[in-house]
Amino acid sequence: MSAKILTLATSKGGAGKSTLTRNLAAHWLNVGFKVAVIDADPQASVINRHNPDGLLKNLTVLSNPEESISYTVEEVKNDFDFILIDTGGFRNRTTVRALVSSRYALIPLKPSADDVAAAIETHALIQELNKTPEKLSSNIMYRMIITMSQQGTVISRHVRTELQKLGFLLMKSEMYHRVAYPESAINGLSPCITDPDGSASRDIANIVSELNELFA
Ligand SMILES: Nc1ncnc2c1ncn2[C@@H]1O[C@H](COP(=O)(O)OP(=O)(O)OP(=O)(O)O)[C@@H](O)[C@H]1O
Ligand SMILES: [Mg+2]
Repeated sequence: MSAKILTLATSKGGAGKSTLTRNLAAHWLNVGFKVAVIDADPQASVINRHNPDGLLKNLTVLSNPEESISYTVEEVKNDFDFILIDTGGFRNRTTVRALVSSRYALIPLKPSADDVAAAIETHALIQELNKTPEKLSSNIMYRMIITMSQQGTVISRHVRTELQKLGFLLMKSEMYHRVAYPESAINGLSPCITDPDGSASRDIANIVSELNELFA
């Protein structure tokens, strides 16, 4: 087994990286996969809230906010189906190494000008990395994803149209603004665990089925 390795990255803080990481991990764990999260954010928001005796006890959470993250990935990549790497909200060497170690990248953005700018910058970084000898033969495949949006709002549609016009690859599914995420995050959990039939859990399932097309 060699894991699908997915880094969540954007240079904008608070775009939803850690939330998406935790929720994707919970979803895949729920449906029976072996999942690891590598917390590469020096603020350690995923690992700090993770309860190894709680409902997500089967989730492996490792921490490495250093450039040696590539070695952590190498060490564990044959033990899991999915490895998710949560990065800090700025461009640093750890994020670069995490991206280089990944086949897939998700760039979350709220429907706001700052988040859009940061997503475009992160995309540029990925394109730059894809030209290096290390990634030439296994390009990082990326998708942008709109987060914390209100369903059907003008701003969200506007951002979507603009990004698509510019040729960026944007997921159809969004991680809508739902209070269930911060509520379950208090205990390091996910609505996929605490409310599996709820709207947030359904949103995550939609995001996952779109990701499965990317993985195929
Ligand atoms: N879809 C959502 N609906 C409602 N609240 C959300 C959603 N996604 C994230 N949040 C909340 O927004 C805040 C920022 O989210 P999160 O911590 O996931 O972002 P981040 O990109 O990891 O930030 P940082 O750059 O600080 O690591 C958190 O308080 C989180 O609970
Ligand atoms: Mg975070």
